[in-house]
Amino acid sequence: MFQYILEAKKIEFSYLDGTKAIKDLSLKIPQGKKIAVVGNNGAGKTTLFLHFNGVHRPQKGEILFKGEKLSYNKTQLKTLRKNIGIVFQDPDNQLFSASVYQDISFGPVNLGWPENKIRAKIEKVMKQTGTWDLRDKPTHSLSHGQKKRVAIAGILVMEPEIIILDEPTAGLDPIYTGQIMKLLDDFNKNGTTIVLSSHNIDEIYAWADYVFVINAGEIIAQGLPEEVFRNENILKKANLIKPWVLEIFDELMGNTEIAEYTKIPRTREEIINIIRNLHSTCN
Ligand SMILES: Nc1ncnc2c1ncn2[C@@H]1O[C@H](COP(=O)(O)OP(=O)(O)OP(=O)(O)O)[C@@H](O)[C@H]1O
Ligand SMILES: [Mg+2]
Repeated sequence: MFQYILEAKKIEFSYLDGTKAIKDLSLKIPQGKKIAVVGNNGAGKTTLFLHFNGVHRPQKGEILFKGEKLSYNKTQLKTLRKNIGIVFQDPDNQLFSASVYQDISFGPVNLGWPENKIRAKIEKVMKQTGTWDLRDKPTHSLSHGQKKRVAIAGILVMEPEIIILDEPTAGLDPIYTGQIMKLLDDFNKNGTTIVLSSHNIDEIYAWADYVFVINAGEIIAQGLPEEVFRNENILKKANLIKPWVLEIFDELMGNTEIAEYTKIPRTREEIINIIRNLHSTCN
């Protein structure tokens, strides 16, 4: 077990048109954790993620996988892509097979798994992601949210050690969002490291073990969600909005009786419980 499964060390990356998308950025992804990367449009999340599976190569600095520096040779990139699954922000960049079933089975078939294992595994993941009923549909005819779920299924089915998801729930309805986040939790409980980006601060706040805040190509803050999202300076600097659970909690903190609650709530259920307890102590 590695303490840090992925590392970026002082990386810099500019696009061909001169846009400096990543500036002297360092971060360490702890193994087995649920990690979130948040930041405004254009902050550099996608560019950073594409460094993790070798699509982008830093012009300065280095990326390490399990402590080993990426050398970008063919064999290493092949191992990397087997161990690191990435779900792209735009599902149209991910899906290419004729049918949904073919698309999701592409990875496992390529890995050379035995056919009975493939079939059982694919069916399980397709049912978990709500894509089973879509299995015979051509991928191009799916709705955006359906495409996202097919793209996620195609990565989950390969059981990579790390799953990186670039805005996985953007465009998903609340029910599917909940299902996907729960599914990512289940994979994480089995040891998979999950790294995701999202603009849904409430979802990140409730879900993540650790948060990185990226702004204009730099990591400007990192820490536990309750530390990062209660820091007004960070929120202001990164143009982020405080999660509503924290907003209400901080409002309630004005009430002295709440001081006895030492645990800061992370979820809807936790804040509702605090309010209910307050009601019962008031009555
Ligand atoms: N192919 C490209 N050529 C030139 N500049 C690019 C290219 N792709 C991204 N950029 C620029 O790099 C910067 C970082 O973009 P990136 O897509 O990584 O941001 P992001 O945080 O993923 O944003 P979003 O939340 O909108 O997905 C932006 O200024 C963007 O305009
Ligand atoms: Mg992006």
